[in-house]
Amino acid sequence: MRHLIDPTDLSVQEIHEIVTLAEDIIANRDKYREACKGKKLATLFYEPSTRTRLSFTSAMMELGGQVIGFSDAASSSVSKGETVADTVRVIRCFADIIAMRHQKEGAPLVASQYAGIPVINAGDGSHAHPTQTLTDLLTIKREKGRLDHLTIGFCGDLKFGRTVHSLIKALSRYEGIRIYLISPEELRLPSYMLKEMRANSALEFEEVRTMEEVMDKLDILYMTRVQKERFLDEEEFDRVKDSFVLDPEKLKAAREDMIILHPLPRVNEITRSVDNDKRAVYFRQVENGKFVRMALIYTLLQWADENKPFEQTPVFNEEYITGDYTCPNKRCISTTEDVDPIFRYSEDGTLRCAYCEAKAKAK
Ligand code: CP
Repeated sequence: MRHLIDPTDLSVQEIHEIVTLAEDIIANRDKYREACKGKKLATLFYEPSTRTRLSFTSAMMELGGQVIGFSDAASSSVSKGETVADTVRVIRCFADIIAMRHQKEGAPLVASQYAGIPVINAGDGSHAHPTQTLTDLLTIKREKGRLDHLTIGFCGDLKFGRTVHSLIKALSRYEGIRIYLISPEELRLPSYMLKEMRANSALEFEEVRTMEEVMDKLDILYMTRVQKERFLDEEEFDRVKDSFVLDPEKLKAAREDMIILHPLPRVNEITRSVDNDKRAVYFRQVENGKFVRMALIYTLLQWADENKPFEQTPVFNEEYITGDYTCPNKRCISTTEDVDPIFRYSEDGTLRCAYCEAKAKAK
């Protein structure tokens, strides 16, 4: 059974195929009107969403399928204490594929161990957001005509920005990528990601403190919101919340063919006066999200085995290490639900929690 939990669950070739399929869907909408007829998508959203949940819903409807689910965990039996594992064992009786958003990092991975149907990570805490990555890749492909040989500035909340984490991971596999990480000290990219980027000799990157330093070098400026909901300390949020604001004055230094991306929602980091600039593509990016999610749902359902329950759950493959370690990350699902602690070695040789990628701690 194939799931999409992390962007690297898809090979570069598979991403190419999904992006190409999305482009075909855009060009031939009628051809796909019944592509998922008789299939049901369950959207399990434990955290607020506008774009992701509604684009999944719209995507499945355009494929001729149906959608069930919840947009507020408080209205489900989660409020009575039901675990992620039990919830998806129930949902698999009603649906063919699941899209899950959860505030705990690793929750969709837990779901994939129990569901017996494909699970798509629609955003887990500060960790990953692989379908936003597919959205971003389709947008870059359509706007720039390529996914390689690009210079990208990621600006804002790089610490908690799951869309940034996932897009960097995905782009790191293409040739000629140069990345500028633009953030205040408090919102730097997590150290596990910096370590992985240093271990990738094909990737060039640099940390800077202002967008002005690099604006004229960029093919893509990827803006992000400072995420109030992820801060444990409100004073720290107040210190950094207005760190970066993109306005027409700052854009004067940018190339004419640069594009501005933002996963949205925005607060004040892009002024409204930028919206009519031809380089602002963040609302076209939203629409691409629906098309690429259509391509993903269709592909995962094609790949899915027959829908049948696991005889035993969970089933771990040999890449996981269990035993004498714990995860120190308070935002990890393994710290709040009764799940098997599992670990694996990352490409930089560090043993990490399989759910959230925090460095494993010996017991
Ligand atoms: N980009 C994104 O994930 O938006 P939502 O939180 O509205 O789904």
